[in-house]
Amino acid sequence: LASIEVDISKIAPGQAIKTMWRKQPVFLRNLTPAEIKSADAVPVASLRDPQSLADRTKPGKKNWLITLGVCTHLGCVPLGAGEGEIKGEFGGYFCPCHGSVYDTAARIRKGPAPTNLVVPEYSFKSDTVVQIG
Ligand code: FES
Repeated sequence: LASIEVDISKIAPGQAIKTMWRKQPVFLRNLTPAEIKSADAVPVASLRDPQSLADRTKPGKKNWLITLGVCTHLGCVPLGAGEGEIKGEFGGYFCPCHGSVYDTAARIRKGPAPTNLVVPEYSFKSDTVVQIG
């Protein structure tokens, strides 16, 4: 199946962009040191879908959070990638459909969604180009 290459060189720390892959939105986010710290401060065992930020990113690239932009409740597109400050109370993403709130590692923290935003298959082609799929 088709893969895509995405230029991430213009995504500043604290910003996220949306792209499309296999007809689904994908969020690519450059986490700030504070956002990484906030994700790492949460005891993993306390989470509904227990994963660390390291589990969800590549070694040495913990600031690059790449997930599907599809709420795991009923599939709406959460806000927080490209909508300025609409990130919800845990600083990640907010799904306006039924109020699911995701944290800075895109892990579900509040609301009806059962699992974290899905991390797709991807790899770094270089420091500034990511291949998804
Ligand atoms: Fe996102 Fe229901 S689809 S909270």
